[in-house]
Amino acid sequence: MSHLLFEPLTLRGLTFRNRSWVPPMCQYSVESLDGMAAPWHLVHYGSLARGGAGAVIVEATGVTPEARISEKDLGLWNDEQRDALIPVVDFMHSQGAAAGIQLAHAGRKASTYPEWGTDFEGSLPESEGGWQTSAPSAEAFPGLEAPRELSEAEIGEIVSAFAASARRSMEAGFDFVEIHGAHGYLLHEFLSPLSNTRTDSYGGSPENRARFLLEVVDATRAEVGEDVPVLVRLSATDWTEGGLSLDDTAQLSAWLKDHSVDLVDVSTGGNVMATIPVGPGYQTTFAEGIRKQARIPTAAVGLLTEPFQAEHILATEQADVVLLGRESLRDPNFPIRAADALRHQIDYKPAQYHRAYK
Ligand SMILES: Cc1cc2nc3c(=O)[nH]c(=O)nc-3n(C[C@H](O)[C@H](O)[C@H](O)COP(=O)(O)O)c2cc1C
Repeated sequence: MSHLLFEPLTLRGLTFRNRSWVPPMCQYSVESLDGMAAPWHLVHYGSLARGGAGAVIVEATGVTPEARISEKDLGLWNDEQRDALIPVVDFMHSQGAAAGIQLAHAGRKASTYPEWGTDFEGSLPESEGGWQTSAPSAEAFPGLEAPRELSEAEIGEIVSAFAASARRSMEAGFDFVEIHGAHGYLLHEFLSPLSNTRTDSYGGSPENRARFLLEVVDATRAEVGEDVPVLVRLSATDWTEGGLSLDDTAQLSAWLKDHSVDLVDVSTGGNVMATIPVGPGYQTTFAEGIRKQARIPTAAVGLLTEPFQAEHILATEQADVVLLGRESLRDPNFPIRAADALRHQIDYKPAQYHRAYK
């Protein structure tokens, strides 16, 4: 029987072996606070690739030191960080997975304590190594220190930093890049009227609020060339009156398509405090809406945990790819398990483990 979950997908010059992918997930596992990949990253991303994913997207990776959520985040603002990622990418390739990386700037949500391994939360004081955050407007995210407003010249520098990190991604061997435009981080802060009150050409109308992201996309495309897929992760709704809605995000996705983006990874929320109706597949309708309205491939994500649920999303044309986050942490072999559940033959169960699959 054929199953869409195990149907290859081609975007530009890259063919993915299946549509069960792993979304970016911060590990906060950099050892020397220098943005460099450590043994944890090799084992963690390696095991997800070995588990049969079509693609594994490496966690939010800072394009500058100030772009990091915490000091334990990966970075890609220098060549040493690039070189430290090469063995991680090589091993993912040896297991047949496409290797992606999410390039990110945390904006007003930067400079925090890491999510685990400390008794503290919130903004990291400058006395402990924290830094002044920046954003479209000097409005704090609840519970965090206030950012300062970026100048137009600084916006241009951040566009260049994304481009330089995209170039290093290619040099490290990554097959594709994802630009982080979601979850209340810098690019989302510009997109949303709830966090962008600028009066220059980067604020006001939807076109103006999208300008920064589109500049990042164009600069990234110029670095990676025509054969490499460029994905963008968006928060399709702010879940708040007066914030971004599905229709706004569908319009933006159409612009992204015109600017050569190949797939929109559809998440939600994160820019303001909101009540989110979390439940199985709770964001999938947004992936479907964007796919239909903007006619661009989408990835669905959010409480997807079951093989038949994943297959159903694809079979009903709600999305082109499914991303399993926390389920992949619980079971890095989810794609192999899903193939068994769907009774679908795959030829990439690790040969080393053949006695487990007799
Ligand atoms: C530990 C952890 C770290 C995460 N880090 C990132 C990240 O770096 N970038 C991002 O866009 N989303 C991040 N997310 C969100 C996930 O990519 C995903 O969208 C979310 O967990 C919902 O999917 P799930 O229900 O399958 O886990 C993270 C989630 C988790 C659990």
